[in-house]
Amino acid sequence: MQCSYFDADRCRSCSLMGRPYDDQLAGKQRHCEELLPAGVEWLPPVPSQESGYRNKAKMVVAGTVEHPTLGILDADGRGVDLRGCGVTAADLRASFDVLAAFVTRAHLTPYDVPTRRGELKYLLLTGSADGELMLRFVLRSQEPLTRLRKHLPWLRAALPRLEVVSVNLQPEHKAVLEGPREIVLTEATALRMRVGDVDLHLRPQSFFQTNTAVAAALYRQARQWVAEVDPGTVWDLYCGVGGFALHLADGRRDVVGIETSHEAVASAEAGRDAAGLTSVRFLAGDATTYALSAEDVPDLVVVNPPRRGIGADLAAWLEASGTRHVVYSSCNAASLARDLAAMPSLAVRRARVLDMFPQTDHCEVIVLLERENPHRPAADAAVARVVAGHLEVPGAAGRAPRSPGRDQSAAAAEISST
Ligand SMILES: C[S@@+](CC[C@H](N)C(=O)[O-])C[C@H]1O[C@@H](n2cnc3c(N)ncnc32)[C@H](O)[C@@H]1O
Repeated sequence: MQCSYFDADRCRSCSLMGRPYDDQLAGKQRHCEELLPAGVEWLPPVPSQESGYRNKAKMVVAGTVEHPTLGILDADGRGVDLRGCGVTAADLRASFDVLAAFVTRAHLTPYDVPTRRGELKYLLLTGSADGELMLRFVLRSQEPLTRLRKHLPWLRAALPRLEVVSVNLQPEHKAVLEGPREIVLTEATALRMRVGDVDLHLRPQSFFQTNTAVAAALYRQARQWVAEVDPGTVWDLYCGVGGFALHLADGRRDVVGIETSHEAVASAEAGRDAAGLTSVRFLAGDATTYALSAEDVPDLVVVNPPRRGIGADLAAWLEASGTRHVVYSSCNAASLARDLAAMPSLAVRRARVLDMFPQTDHCEVIVLLERENPHRPAADAAVARVVAGHLEVPGAAGRAPRSPGRDQSAAAAEISST
């Protein structure tokens, strides 16, 4: 793929731009194979369409009310317009001129980073596979809200597939994309995202995989592996809007999803209710806290953490837990390799690279882990607890007694159902 912004040095976000796609995919496969243990059965990598694959656009708004730029900022904090970005889905690209016209019409002053003046920081646009859109305005304050509401009918007439519109308030001058407060301006509060044969519901402030077609392949892969193992109980840790959980639920299997974002949990619950699934629960809370305080150990655990990975405590818990299978989906093979090294009893049986992010050096990799020796006595997670910050494993020499204060009820207080 060629990109004029890349060639002109205006945007270097897609670091592999210009490299033949087959080379990119082979390079990602090689990279993951080098990082993961030997002896793994690698399934063929899942390619993506090379361009137009991004279902979300995070556009920094800069310039002036009359001539806004939508794109990124240069090193001096000035706007670089990237309305023609070729990795962004076509229906999002087709909306950018209308959005720029709306900025002018509603007199939304772009935020100027060098002088810290102005109101509109970002436009966050997400598109579903069916062409419906969700638009979020990230504003410094509520000052433009009345004008925004007044001109919204014009925007909706110009973009009839616009389903959800909201304002996010981010008053601070720092490189954080969004703030905690969201004001939804439309009747609809969630965008329906059809992924394969499952409808996910996406509310503002919820994570969604970047590439809908590849996400569908990812969930399909997990569903296939899980069907072979056929566990009765499953946890989906870092569940987001429930992509894995809702693909793995089959009406009889007991599935629990854990996620820190309350909005994502509400989204996941909406997807579950629309599908009429009764054996799936979603809880808002920290994945590690949940695992370390649970009374029971599920037959299978799915983890799909952010780039940093699951970390030492959750890896140690999984290692000692006795759970027979883990499906680990990662967007960072380096943190995946580090976490795997901390779980030597869980052998990588199968692995697959999915190219979620063509033209960049990132990819998704999913692995199926199986416990090597499931009948070892140490494999009993009900007694693997964190005591004063250290993982206590049964049989470990000199282990500390279980703290009466750090029990199920204390940890449960940190996990709230929404
Ligand atoms: C890579 S996303 C995966 C989401 C989901 N599995 C999917 O397929 O869309 C990681 C998710 O983990 C959530 N998260 C981050 N830290 C967490 C934590 N400590 N405990 C639980 N969830 C967390 C994020 O909010 C985000 O939704």
